[in-house]
Amino acid sequence: MQTITTVAELRRELAKACSAGKRVGLVPTMGYLHDGHLALVEASRAQCDVTVVSIFVNPTQFGPNEDLSSYPRDFVRDEKMCRDAGVAIVFAPGAQEVYPAQFETFVEPGELAKPLCGAFRPGHFRGVATVVCKLFNMVHPDVVFFGQKDFQQCAVVRRMATDLNFPIKIVTVPTVREPDGLAMSSRNRHLSKEERGRAVAISRGLFAAAEEFRVGVREVDKLIAIAERQLETVDRLHYLELVDGDTLKHAKSPLRFPAALCVAAYVGSTRLIDNVLLGVP
Ligand code: PAJ
Repeated sequence: MQTITTVAELRRELAKACSAGKRVGLVPTMGYLHDGHLALVEASRAQCDVTVVSIFVNPTQFGPNEDLSSYPRDFVRDEKMCRDAGVAIVFAPGAQEVYPAQFETFVEPGELAKPLCGAFRPGHFRGVATVVCKLFNMVHPDVVFFGQKDFQQCAVVRRMATDLNFPIKIVTVPTVREPDGLAMSSRNRHLSKEERGRAVAISRGLFAAAEEFRVGVREVDKLIAIAERQLETVDRLHYLELVDGDTLKHAKSPLRFPAALCVAAYVGSTRLIDNVLLGVP
């Protein structure tokens, strides 16, 4: 495995893979890796010859009062996990390499970036779309892997790839969970033991609604109320919304499929997100 920090060296290495006709898979991450990230690596290894994992805590997707400086980092551990998982290249550029001093060009997503997290994190998806667009141009992957946990991010990135004509296949990998159901996230490490106990309410709420859906409930308000009941133990609910899975607009009763029940909530000072898809086999 190689660790590369500059775009020039990355291009040199990937040119070799490209001329050998190899299929390149990219897994964009912000590091502090866990089994959710590794599921994306596994999917890439299954579909591609060369897997590149990018590790970059992207400053443009954090708001001024968000957790950029406290975002968990452990590069040595991440490198080892990548090596053990069969990653070919870890691309870990510094902030200057991605955003040099004169940088001023951004990718502006549209309607898909407005609801849900977009309403609470202004500029977040602009930062995500910009860095993902840059990574696409740096790596020229054949396939890119994203996690369903960040459902809106998947939608925004897919739209961007289509709108900007990237010839890249985008694969969404199902959410990997802890045994009790909590979605794995780098931010889970900020939870105290007591908060970790309460955080499970998020997935419980989603699963309770999904179960009602399975047995035939189709009314939006009813499904939301079921999830809401479980969510009483979180400290602050940012949103709990049932949306059309394609447009991310509010779902109407009776539900059209696919729909996504999406939640963002604070447990202590940690903001967690999760979702379940309804009506997807
Ligand atoms: P990060 O939060 O590190 O996540 C990297 C990728 O791992 C994303 O596609 C995310 O959806 C996926 N992922 C995280 N937790 C997961 C889980 N429990 N199960 C399955 N997949 C999971 O998302 C970002 O970084 C950034 O916004 C990025 C796309 C790298 C742009 O900076």
